[in-house]
Amino acid sequence: MPESLTLTPDALLTTTRAVRKRLDFTRPVERAVLEECLTIAQQASTGSNLQNWHFVVVTDPTKRQALADLYRKGAAIYVTLPIAATNLTFDDPQRNAQQQRIMESAQYLYDHMNEAPVLVVPCIRPPDGRLEQQQVFLQASWWSSIAQAGWSFMLAARARGLGTAWTTLHLLFEEEAAQILGIPYAEVNQAAMMPVAYTRGTHFRPARRAPLDTMVHWETW
Ligand SMILES: Cc1cc2nc3c(=O)[nH]c(=O)nc-3n(C[C@H](O)[C@H](O)[C@H](O)COP(=O)(O)O)c2cc1C
Repeated sequence: MPESLTLTPDALLTTTRAVRKRLDFTRPVERAVLEECLTIAQQASTGSNLQNWHFVVVTDPTKRQALADLYRKGAAIYVTLPIAATNLTFDDPQRNAQQQRIMESAQYLYDHMNEAPVLVVPCIRPPDGRLEQQQVFLQASWWSSIAQAGWSFMLAARARGLGTAWTTLHLLFEEEAAQILGIPYAEVNQAAMMPVAYTRGTHFRPARRAPLDTMVHWETW
């Protein structure tokens, strides 16, 4: 078992990045380490304390390849969407440079997702079935429930020298992914697919973010 990194809470929270190019595809990830991270994720909060998260952990190379193929198909659609175009251009040149780096890094993951030794698919089983047709209140409750546990998993992974990236592009083909993984599609929403691998080097820096006052509203918007 690897030793945990010695990171302060603030360092952990500010350096848990979306890791793509620095994932070490050659080093296996021990099941026991994944179970530690998942056990920590289980401490997250859920709406009504339902604890209705599920995590499908995929190491089988054939399944990883099939999921990566769906991810690539999703990426091919994503780049044609308006969100991808607006993503690429900001008034701030530094933000544009950051975005350019992210797009290059994302392209790397499109090409290499199947090589990650582990893919983790966080899922939520809402009590009233799939979320698409439900009230926003319920959608927010269940998406947030799985996102909180997912982020805890990512933090726990980072603390153990693992890198992760929360990705959603395969969800354009979610039903096909459900078939590959035996997920009961009528009852369960997948929320993401995370590559998980040890990182090449463990030093990561906080990312540049906009000044707080552009997004924090005291007392009123
Ligand atoms: C809801 C959500 C969906 C995302 N989907 C993808 C994705 O499909 N592919 C990907 O490479 N990164 C994805 N990301 C990661 C973001 O692109 C990432 O946060 C961004 O590159 C900035 O990197 P940082 O988190 O290290 O600051 C997603 C993140 C979130 C929160």
